[in-house]
Amino acid sequence: MSDKLICGVDIGSSKIATVVGIQPADSTELKIIGFNTTNSRGVKKGLIVDIGEVTAAVEESVEKAERMAGHKLNSAYVSVGGPHIASLNSHGIVAVSNPQGEIVEDDVVRVIDAASAISLSSTRHVIEVSPRDYIVDGQSGIRNAIGMSGVRLEVETHIITASHTNLKNIDRVLNDLGIANQGFVFAGLASAEAVLSSTEKELGVVLIDIGGGKIDICIYVEGALSHSSSIPIGARHITNDIAVGLRVSLDSAEKIKLMLGKVNAKKKPGQSIDLGSLSLPENVNDVSLKSVVDGVIAPRLEEIYKLIFEEIEKSNFGQSIPSGLVITGGGALTVGMLETGKKVIGLPIRVGVPDKITGLVDEITDPQFATTVGLLMYGMNHLSTGDNGIKNFNKIWKDFSLGGSVGKFKDFVKQFIP
Ligand SMILES: Nc1ncnc2c1ncn2[C@@H]1O[C@H](COP(=O)(O)OP(=O)(O)OP(=O)(O)O)[C@@H](O)[C@H]1O
Ligand SMILES: [Mg+2]
Repeated sequence: MSDKLICGVDIGSSKIATVVGIQPADSTELKIIGFNTTNSRGVKKGLIVDIGEVTAAVEESVEKAERMAGHKLNSAYVSVGGPHIASLNSHGIVAVSNPQGEIVEDDVVRVIDAASAISLSSTRHVIEVSPRDYIVDGQSGIRNAIGMSGVRLEVETHIITASHTNLKNIDRVLNDLGIANQGFVFAGLASAEAVLSSTEKELGVVLIDIGGGKIDICIYVEGALSHSSSIPIGARHITNDIAVGLRVSLDSAEKIKLMLGKVNAKKKPGQSIDLGSLSLPENVNDVSLKSVVDGVIAPRLEEIYKLIFEEIEKSNFGQSIPSGLVITGGGALTVGMLETGKKVIGLPIRVGVPDKITGLVDEITDPQFATTVGLLMYGMNHLSTGDNGIKNFNKIWKDFSLGGSVGKFKDFVKQFIP
């Protein structure tokens, strides 16, 4: 077995990040060997709005990461998120082919196939099918049905869908750069892979990735991905509020926001903050911490948490998440994020940092790169299932665009077999 090279391209609303990792043959550890982050252009709320701009930004980021890694990026996993993401849970049932014998791989493939046979509009496509629970002859809670005896096999799956147009646009960007798309990964799911512990997933937890333009959400219940969605609001709204509240430009507001996060821990609420070191063109030299944090930032954070709360309520898993919330994405570092969250949500809450990596980790061990690192984690788990690592998307697209029967996408489904 040789070392595996795994690459990820995270197309965000604020930044494009490219990461190159290696999984040594004798280890399950992921070593980062190349990384770059470039300001994003042409992306709004997770949607590509200017394909030329995005292609140029991705090209810049990929080239720099390649140079650092000393490897060419031939294929990569790519993030997809934003309010065009939707999810549903679906049930499948089949008769076990040999009722006298054991359940075999083919039965599992067929039952996932059956659960995935949902009718979907031609503008949407499936990007993820994740088994939540197998049921053999009425007995639920089975993680791996292969090898068990039974006559009836059922599965509960979680299915994530995305807008066809946006997937096509992302594909075009990668195609133009000669990079094969190994799979679209929901940004929330990638972040979850990078920052959640298996205990949190087992107990029940909500992953919240607060990016620049959107918030991606994944809920895990009893170890299984059970709900995915996205809200079209992000940390950039906080920058806007500061710009309006202090009458400064967006650039200045962004600088003030980042500085507040650094100084707040050492300051008392009544104190003012010296902005002299930022040399803002507006000649704003100091600002009262209380007026910005309590008057401008906290109300926006409260609004964000209320929207998150509504999303959790909608999922119907509100009673199944004792591990609470894990907040990640660049927005997680906003001043007052945890304090406001505890007040509004009333559940445990922590910031998630992608730290399960080795190698060139200094810059990347930061919440804003949770999705980026998660793409590699996802790739690593996906490759370890033994297939060639490429999700059979064309097949799925074709099958789903027929509006019903999924047919045989055995290769794709095989990856879920433990
Ligand atoms: N230290 C910090 N303190 C406060 N805010 C921060 C900090 N670092 C980053 N941010 C904010 O996080 C946002 C960017 O987050 P991130 O890089 O996760 O977004 P993105 O992945 O590009 O966008 P999206 O996921 O929405 O498409 C910006 O609004 C930025 O101001
Ligand atoms: Mg992001």
